[in-house]
Amino acid sequence: MELIDGNRIAADIIKELKAKVAALKGRKPCLALVRVGDDPASVSYVRKKEQTAAEIGVDGRVILPPVSTTQEELFALIDQLNADSGVDGILVQSPLPPHIDELAVFRRVTPEKDVDGFNTLNLGKVAQEDPSGFVACTPAGIMELLARSGVDLKGKHVVVLGRSLIVGKPVALLALQKRAGANGTVTICHSATRDLPAITRLADVLIAAIGRPEFVTADMVKPGAVVIDVGINRVPDPSRKTGYRLTGDVAFSQVAPLCSRITPVPGGVGPMTVAMLMRNTVEARLRRTAA
Ligand code: GUN
Repeated sequence: MELIDGNRIAADIIKELKAKVAALKGRKPCLALVRVGDDPASVSYVRKKEQTAAEIGVDGRVILPPVSTTQEELFALIDQLNADSGVDGILVQSPLPPHIDELAVFRRVTPEKDVDGFNTLNLGKVAQEDPSGFVACTPAGIMELLARSGVDLKGKHVVVLGRSLIVGKPVALLALQKRAGANGTVTICHSATRDLPAITRLADVLIAAIGRPEFVTADMVKPGAVVIDVGINRVPDPSRKTGYRLTGDVAFSQVAPLCSRITPVPGGVGPMTVAMLMRNTVEARLRRTAA
């Protein structure tokens, strides 16, 4: 079994981006990071994005509307950022408070600044295999992890566990694309799937993105499979100072010995999401200058 080291691969990408930003003429790329309220996981994700932006020379502009912000107020903020010529990328951290229609917010971000890739147009471009859009960061990160680990999906059975807009659907579309590294045979499973273990056991590459701690057990995995664990679950752990520990959607200790390769949590897909966000932001800046 070989561990896929997301920290190392993300660090390589960050280094490449840092050089690209240093070579840019004119102003630095600017990424607006909008976090509504104080969801603890979101606080930590946005902090990480801000730190990485600073590391590569991207101007990270953190905006913190209160949890009581109305949908109209959030729309007004996004409209202002859309119109601001000094802003290249806009990210609205999910999840949003329940009184806000998240999908409507994602649609409000102008496609040219939608570095999260959640806008209707950008998701449609993934389906159309049109590279002029932005691909959502976690799915893009998974594809990059596989490519840089030498895993070619061509002809392989890729089973995706989960159908979310943020991971499941777009990663399934990417694995399916008719291009080098992709060309997978893709099955998407979800909460209504019957006899799930029978399907996941067919997977040459299993992508777990359901948000349930240690859901994938050894009986669900074919020996020799590549397992990508997208879950980042906080489970209570009184023995830790924080009171919790992070665990993936895969029961790592029992599944890892079976796999040819597996991503750990933390240190697998997570750092790749941030690296892809930075790549999209630098790309947004380049496209906007070229336009
Ligand atoms: N919440 C979980 N993943 C993501 C992501 O990639 N982008 C945003 N904006 N929110 C998230």
